[in-house]
Amino acid sequence: MKIAVIGTGYVGLVTGTCLSETGNDVTCVDINKQKVQMMQQGQLPIYEPGLELLFLRNIIQDRLRFTTDLADAIKDAEIIFLALPTPPGEDGSADLSYVLGAAKDIAKLVTSYKVVVTKSTVPVGTADKVKAVFNEHTDVEVAVVSNPEFLREGVAVEDFMKPDRVVVGTTDERARKLMHDLYSPYVRQGNPIIFMDERSSELTKYAANSFLATKISFMNEIANLCELVGANVDMVRLGVGSDDRIGKRFLFPGIGYGGSCFPKDVQALAKSAEDNKYDFKILNSVMEVNTIQKKILVEKLKKYYGGDLKDKTFALWGLAFKPETDDIREAPALYIIDELLQAGAKVTVFDPEAINNVKYLLEDKIAYADDQYEALEEADALLILTEWSVFRNPDFNRIASTLKEKVIFDGRNLFDLDKMIDLGFYYNSIGRDL
Ligand code: UGA
Repeated sequence: MKIAVIGTGYVGLVTGTCLSETGNDVTCVDINKQKVQMMQQGQLPIYEPGLELLFLRNIIQDRLRFTTDLADAIKDAEIIFLALPTPPGEDGSADLSYVLGAAKDIAKLVTSYKVVVTKSTVPVGTADKVKAVFNEHTDVEVAVVSNPEFLREGVAVEDFMKPDRVVVGTTDERARKLMHDLYSPYVRQGNPIIFMDERSSELTKYAANSFLATKISFMNEIANLCELVGANVDMVRLGVGSDDRIGKRFLFPGIGYGGSCFPKDVQALAKSAEDNKYDFKILNSVMEVNTIQKKILVEKLKKYYGGDLKDKTFALWGLAFKPETDDIREAPALYIIDELLQAGAKVTVFDPEAINNVKYLLEDKIAYADDQYEALEEADALLILTEWSVFRNPDFNRIASTLKEKVIFDGRNLFDLDKMIDLGFYYNSIGRDL
């Protein structure tokens, strides 16, 4: 099939690349000339495990192309994916100007039947708005389909190639058949392609992310309670998660959810409920709990140091909002750095992939280390903020001899409690006894 993907951010690039991998002819469009040139030369603008291999293979075999020329990209395309940003507006609702703007540009160019697919996370009713744009600007028949993505950063390629499910919102029979044929190679193991109406599909995405965010906030509250009643959240997690109805996954407490999706989507769903005069009480609490959880390590530090962090130096391991990505959008680490600096502390950071993004953002406000042990030099304590594998089994002797004191505050529960006691560390984690 001939496909165009508009927007080469995280979602667009993974979608375009993975669609070319099953033999489709894919043209990706972006307005950023520099980025397009970079990709034409086989350079990936993002870090995503496994993506480079597929990206290069399909470029070399001429199934994956990049251009700034929208007209050229959509000329022969049967399906056009919109993978454009929907940033939160001032009131928390999703800003649709990129999506609707692209729809208008496409409408002015189409000469034959097209399926236009919204991949971006868009509020309920967006498909109707996109349809209205086409109705206004062209007489050519265009089917507007909602097809939300469920890609996790860090494992996005795997999620695309073997999805748990594909959700397609359309009432257009021709579009349904095309989408079925397009996705069939990805669900050979029997996972479903679930067809539904556009509005249900749009809401499915928000409901999925908001449910997952709720699961995390719930576990974070259980963890906080564990600390007060002397229980161990690791045990509670296992006991609770072994019930199939609850499930073992996504129950890890920590320093709050971050990233470009959960904070934005929970807020947008709450706003959309409010717009429809529905008070979505759980979501409001989920957001409130997350705001508090992002500050929990700093609160613990203040308690440990008797309220004063002035002139203390902290080594931070991990900046990305989660491992296997260089993405720092809404990363809890940024909130923690901000709080530490405000309290007069000094900060030295290390992250295997995200360090340059933080350097670009914070410049000389903090210090940057070339490796995880260098970050510990002159530091009063170590703070672990992202659960990168490389932090899981460190040289504890080296940590002990480099830090001024043997103090670790772990926001990701990486280490065994008994082991840390044996090693003589003061080890403060989330939801577990000291
Ligand atoms: C999330 C969803 O998982 C994807 O299905 C969805 O497609 C994507 O958003 C999106 O809307 O585009 P992602 O943001 O990449 O994916 O990351 P997650 O792995 O879901 O993690 C989100 C946050 O939750 C991270 O800050 C992570 O540290 C935190 N988390 C996750 C926990 O605190 N505990 C857990 O048990 C799991």
